[in-house]
Amino acid sequence: MQNCKYYLPEKPWLIGMAIGGLIIGWMMLSGFIHFGETTFLCSLASSTAREKAKYEETPIQLQAIVHYATSRIVPQQSFAEISITFNVLKALAPCNFLVFGLGHDSVMWNSLNPRGTTVFLEEDPKWVKSVLKDAPNLQAYTVQYRTQLREADQLLSTYRTEPYCSPYKAYLRGNYNCKLALTGLPEMVYDKEWDLIMIDAPRGYFAEAPGRMGAIFSAAVMARARKGSGVTHVFLHDIDRKVEKVYAEEFLCRKYVVNGVGRLWHFEIPPAANLTTNGGGDTGGEWFC
Ligand SMILES: C[S@@+](CC[C@H](N)C(=O)[O-])C[C@H]1O[C@@H](n2cnc3c(N)ncnc32)[C@H](O)[C@@H]1O
Repeated sequence: MQNCKYYLPEKPWLIGMAIGGLIIGWMMLSGFIHFGETTFLCSLASSTAREKAKYEETPIQLQAIVHYATSRIVPQQSFAEISITFNVLKALAPCNFLVFGLGHDSVMWNSLNPRGTTVFLEEDPKWVKSVLKDAPNLQAYTVQYRTQLREADQLLSTYRTEPYCSPYKAYLRGNYNCKLALTGLPEMVYDKEWDLIMIDAPRGYFAEAPGRMGAIFSAAVMARARKGSGVTHVFLHDIDRKVEKVYAEEFLCRKYVVNGVGRLWHFEIPPAANLTTNGGGDTGGEWFC
């Protein structure tokens, strides 16, 4: 039997060459990685790390698991409805996500946008207090609306007479001339560009409720004002109701609906700067759609 201790290769120079090759290869590879941030290997490594970091569990996701595991109340949207927004969040997170309404779904939305900014706008200060008691990490603001559901028809039929409601003149902060513009939002909402906007509030099921007219109009204005690349994803719930449907068709536009299930529509709205201005139709003209 051959004793390994005393084994001598027949061609020792071959081993020397192999070891030398390995050392040179290692030096070239490490130089490749260390000297150029933009080198292929490095960018591959960092983008893989970024991808991995994107949806690695965060404290807010772990808290969400515990929250829902110990709660008997589940969000109102169905699995299929939630999945539409979840798929967009998976592709875009961390991103800027604006949610109209605080509810039993808020902890979930927050946790589906790890390391992103998720902001909730709620009309009822008591409800804000109650939700934040159990989920103090949510970023939520109370918002006062200037409309009531009972005004929906009249606002729709008259808004075209107000120049500051028109798509080429409309803005939000301080636009008191246009009653559909939400003027009472926190400053940070105006200052940020929102990648996703979920409209599941304010309440719109009794005459004195604010209705979603202002939220729908304002989401359209925000989306059209986008300066960054890509579209704004707008999700509107309760499209089985008349006001939500007609306002969606007037301001968010059927041609921008890319998905829909149950009572949810998903719109992808391009920035107005990407549209040509030739007076309407399929373009960035006089009216929204
Ligand atoms: C249609 S709900 C949104 C519900 C939310 N999507 C969910 O899954 O819980 C819209 C509004 O109803 C009100 N709301 C919802 N649940 C409430 C509750 N349990 N108590 C008081 N107000 C509530 C809030 O003003 C909220 O913004």
